[in-house]
Amino acid sequence: MTPSSFYITTPIYYVNGAPHIGHAYTTMVADALARFHRMDNEEVFFLTGTDEHGLKIQRSAEARGISPQALADENSAKFSDTFKHLGIDYDRFIRTTDPAHKEVVRAMYDRLLASGDVYLDHYAGWYSASDEAFYAEDEIADGCAISSGSKVEWVEEQSYFFKLSAYQDRLIQWYDENNANVQPERARNEIRSFVQGGLKDLSISRTTFNWGIELPNDPAHVLYVWVDALTNYISALGGFGEDSEAYNKFWPCNVHLIGKDILRFHAVYWPAFLMSAELPLPKTVFAHGWWLNDGVKMSKSLNNSISPKDLTDTYDLDVLRYFFMREIPLGNDGNFDHSRVILRNNAELADNYGNLVNRTFKMLKGFAAGKAPSTSACDEDAALIESAAQTVAQVRAHVHALAPHAALETALKFSSELNVYLQTNQPWKLAKDETKAERLAQVLYNTLEGIRVVTLLLAPFIPDTCGRVLTAMKQSQRDFSTLESWGFLEAGTVIDTPDVLFAKLELPKDEEEEQAPAPVKKSKKKKKDNSPQQPGEIDFPTFQSVEMKVGKVLEAQKVDGSEKLLKLMIDVGEPTPRQVVSGIAKSYEPEALVGRQFAVVTNLKPAKLFGILSQGMVLAVDRPDGGLELTEFSEALAPGSRIS
Ligand code: MSP
Repeated sequence: MTPSSFYITTPIYYVNGAPHIGHAYTTMVADALARFHRMDNEEVFFLTGTDEHGLKIQRSAEARGISPQALADENSAKFSDTFKHLGIDYDRFIRTTDPAHKEVVRAMYDRLLASGDVYLDHYAGWYSASDEAFYAEDEIADGCAISSGSKVEWVEEQSYFFKLSAYQDRLIQWYDENNANVQPERARNEIRSFVQGGLKDLSISRTTFNWGIELPNDPAHVLYVWVDALTNYISALGGFGEDSEAYNKFWPCNVHLIGKDILRFHAVYWPAFLMSAELPLPKTVFAHGWWLNDGVKMSKSLNNSISPKDLTDTYDLDVLRYFFMREIPLGNDGNFDHSRVILRNNAELADNYGNLVNRTFKMLKGFAAGKAPSTSACDEDAALIESAAQTVAQVRAHVHALAPHAALETALKFSSELNVYLQTNQPWKLAKDETKAERLAQVLYNTLEGIRVVTLLLAPFIPDTCGRVLTAMKQSQRDFSTLESWGFLEAGTVIDTPDVLFAKLELPKDEEEEQAPAPVKKSKKKKKDNSPQQPGEIDFPTFQSVEMKVGKVLEAQKVDGSEKLLKLMIDVGEPTPRQVVSGIAKSYEPEALVGRQFAVVTNLKPAKLFGILSQGMVLAVDRPDGGLELTEFSEALAPGSRIS
């Protein structure tokens, strides 16, 4: 069977400056999706690159006193270097100044001409060099484009036009024929109503500057930069000629991943050009949201952007990749916040997945000479094995639906299940009883096999860490065909112990100074605090080491045989609820607690009370009448909110 193909693109980035985290975000997400499809044994082509022509680049070069080509060379290299630094595994990095690209653009223009869709006229209207976009009168206010805030200028010149208006009905038909064509739904609705409102023909050439591709039929004109730029998606495949093997294999593209700022170009102009050129349309244009800094879109022009290099100096690359993809659904905006990175690192990567791997590998060393045990199946474990199969199917479905945040949430949920499995089966106890040797082997083997499953599923998103774990497990076959049935891990495999996978990070201490919180850097040594400590006092780091969160009670019941204890299931914002045993039965009826929110200590060592595992503690006040009163919070707070 020939493998199916998967073609994914990022926008090609303007070379008027260095890359920022917004550019890195699109590219990281596309990279993870490409990696996932590769691991799923599809033939993948992942394209990124730089957009180097146009007025904006020409002006930036003039301002620097260098040629546009020199500016493009300098900044294009910054993008490719940054992507290398971020471990982006693209198949091609295209530059629109490549001669082969220019040739395909001319061929594309010839097709538009041949379709009778191009005519010469006079343009008079508003243009934003920053957006490289034309705007209608009702799209501007106070000399700026309303949508982007960029300055506009009045332009009047002879121009070739593309008959965009002729494609209105066919575009609407395209939006309606398949929901996947423009995603997410919000973007599809927005673009559909824009087109429904009526389309004007599009000016596609300029004569007042020359940094672009000359029109084959009239060299006094350079082609509008967006016709040039959009064609990269086909020129990167070697053009649309019948003899282009890559074009035949990969076009139409599966996913054009873009930011919502450039939706109109990709969901209106590009399909219309393709229709005119009689070429197939992309399967999905997906517009993701923006990363904001204090609520404002990060951009070069606003000088409020965060550099990818600064972030990787502070955090491990995998922590960043995980954060960006886990924190928000792909279509939403997100506010960049260091505390959120730290919380996700600590609770999900370090405490959940990292801890699972490290403690399992350690136990294996202690109880099974570091080798995957040989064992038989046990009915008791059927639910875990079934859950692994479901996790694989769900993660795959989320990735296909372009929902990486949900894919990660699902994978981490299975990691939690494995932690609970260990907690329930307690291999450290089984190891003390010779008659339980077979059960010990089963529990260790299943946990290892579960780690292999979750690690492979996480590998497209956090490839460095997962690579270390898979190497430690001697797994050279790193594709999803090995997840088809439980038990791929061979008994007897020697499992090495990697170093701690994710170090816990400290939350910034200077929040009360109302500065932008900067995390404690990895390399920084802690400053010594010389102020004397009074007896009974604790220092701030000790206090900070207590993790307290808002927890919502999902279930509550009496503990058989105890007058004091209640067993609670509490949602503390993790994929699975915590079981907490609490001595509050004399003060609260169990039913009265369900749905209410209390303070919970979440990093207390688990303990057994009345034989029941307790994974946390609810905070209560001693009332003068001898009863207890829980520290309660309103519904307005999300479970998992940190108390500090
Ligand atoms: N050159 C055009 C695209 C041509 S594609 C045929 C362009 N370049 S750009 O350098 O301005 O990059 C825009 C893209 O960068 C956005 O669509 C998005 O993918 C990414 N981002 C830029 N700022 C961003 C944020 N603040 N947040 C998230 N992504 C954003 O437009």
